[in-house]
Amino acid sequence: MYHSAILTILSLLSVPCGVYSGQILVYPVDGSHWINMKVIIMELHSKGHNITVIRSSDSMYVKEESPYYSSITVGVGVYNDEYFTSFVSLLLQFRQHKRSSWDELMFAVESMKMLSEIHEKICNMTAMIFENETLMKSLQEAKFDMVLADPAMGGGVLLAHKLGLPLVFNVRWTILGDGHFAIAPSPLSYVPVPGAELTDKMTFIQRVTNVLIYFYTYYQQENYFGQHYKVFCQKYFGPDVDYFSLFQNADIWLMRNDFTFEFPRPTMPNVVYMGGFQCKPSNPLPDDLEKFVQSSGKHGVIIMSLGSIFGELLGDITNEIAAAFAQLPQKVIWRHTGPRPSTLGNNTLLVDWMPQNDLLGHPKTKVFVAHGGTNGIQEAIYHGVPILGLPLAFDQPDNLSRMREKGTAKVLDISGLDRSVFLEALKEVLYNPSYRENMQKLSRLHHDQPIKPLDHAIFWIEYVIRNGGAPHLRTQSFRMSWITYHSLDVMLTLLGVVLINGWLTFLVLRYLCFTVIFKKKFKRE
Ligand SMILES: *[C@@H]1O[C@H](CO)[C@@H](O)[C@H](O)[C@H]1NC(C)=O
Ligand SMILES: *[C@@H]1O[C@H](CO)[C@@H](O)[C@H](O)[C@H]1NC(C)=O
Ligand SMILES: *[C@@H]1O[C@H](CO)[C@@H](O)[C@H](O)[C@H]1NC(C)=O
Ligand SMILES: *[C@@H]1O[C@H](CO)[C@@H](O)[C@H](O)[C@H]1NC(C)=O
Ligand SMILES: *[C@@H]1O[C@H](CO)[C@@H](O)[C@H](O)[C@H]1NC(C)=O
Repeated sequence: MYHSAILTILSLLSVPCGVYSGQILVYPVDGSHWINMKVIIMELHSKGHNITVIRSSDSMYVKEESPYYSSITVGVGVYNDEYFTSFVSLLLQFRQHKRSSWDELMFAVESMKMLSEIHEKICNMTAMIFENETLMKSLQEAKFDMVLADPAMGGGVLLAHKLGLPLVFNVRWTILGDGHFAIAPSPLSYVPVPGAELTDKMTFIQRVTNVLIYFYTYYQQENYFGQHYKVFCQKYFGPDVDYFSLFQNADIWLMRNDFTFEFPRPTMPNVVYMGGFQCKPSNPLPDDLEKFVQSSGKHGVIIMSLGSIFGELLGDITNEIAAAFAQLPQKVIWRHTGPRPSTLGNNTLLVDWMPQNDLLGHPKTKVFVAHGGTNGIQEAIYHGVPILGLPLAFDQPDNLSRMREKGTAKVLDISGLDRSVFLEALKEVLYNPSYRENMQKLSRLHHDQPIKPLDHAIFWIEYVIRNGGAPHLRTQSFRMSWITYHSLDVMLTLLGVVLINGWLTFLVLRYLCFTVIFKKKFKRE
């Protein structure tokens, strides 16, 4: 009784003055991005905030009914499941074969086109919201305190501007690539462009590659994605409003990474790192799984998951992987939904779903075979389990290349992967202790923070609600032209002054010399 009274008082005291239940409008990105957005929404809900989520009527992940939020459904199709699966299968076919640089380029152009179509659909969806007067009126009347958005797609930025609300991002990717590149200075000499699979220590040739890839992706993204938003802004906000400045104007950037994962680089006062916010301590395993794990004895277990869509599409490669597993003394738990590989050994357990976090936290887990998808890497860092990476698509190769650089992962290319290569790599991660030691060290660093990443994120969201935004943390950089930003005008002026001074000095000297010599001559004569 006494105890609980103290707890109540303490919890009341720890609520900063003026916090009330905030009204938060969330414009998420569907698909795997939603999984992480939902973690934040659930936490906000538990703190007593009222959350409204915007979804498209064919959303794969964002449910209409939820105990954590109310939803607004916009009657438009954006995320077609089939479309996405066909895209991924195309991508995997491409990945499984050896390819030339020309193929790579053609493929990049093709995927840009497909992604571009999704951006167009998002613009159409946002236009539908803007043009629905009843909906706009109800949004205005709801008196939201802020918009929480994922800027991988631009809808939230546009809506926040329309409603005149503070904007907080849950971000890793934006339309222009990695979030940092949109607001923080990013010297290409030591900041590798995502997708280049480079590190912060680059040779001359690598730096050339880094710069070329930077310009190439920038050009592609501006042209393919940016153009839809340009058209949109012109139509609804007038010619003076540019999407990129609206987006750079966001109050807080909650970054889904941190410096255990990222290479050190310049950042900004309104960037808040919350890498690993989705990770939780592990729970005990279900009985049957625990029995299986214990049966591995001193050898331990290997767990493998390639994500739901990818697993089914891999075909022949799964046979090679299964054959390699069969040769090991360890037990294997493999999340696999496709046809059963014919070479499957009796040490391997196939499951449709596995409690990945609880398995990673289990002391018998030795290696995590992963594709580098959402949360897998973060959870592996959190629990200190080394990785054997099989990157398949998107930012996965880049994610895993960072882990390889830190000595916590070995990465394989799935094109031409066979059982001996796979087995060799797996044995290296299993028996060379440096992988595990490096990962455990990274894990210790990740845990050594004054405040948990999720609490940190929630603090800054509530900060924006309390203070009506955070404009004092935004730099002026993006309100400047390219010339002003790089002080080219100043340089040119100073250079001009130096040149003019030099020239004047030269003239004066020449004049002096001339008169002196002339006078001497004159005197002599
Ligand atoms: C929460 O938001 C919804 C939708 O805007 C609104 O209908 C509801 O009244 C709000 N609830 C509270 C407790 O403010
Ligand atoms: C978006 O809307 C425009 C005009 O209504 C339409 O022509 C276009 O096909 C739509 N785009 C997509 C990808 O649905
Ligand atoms: C406008 O929004 C309201 C409320 O969400 C919805 O009921 C209505 O069907 C929408 N109208 C159109 C034309 O989409
Ligand atoms: C599993 O297979 C190996 C060889 O393939 C065999 O030696 C072993 O007895 C089998 N174990 C069980 C439990 O069936
Ligand atoms: C790559 O890693 C980042 C940071 O951990 C994560 O946000 C992202 O989801 C990962 N990529 C994929 C494709 O899951």
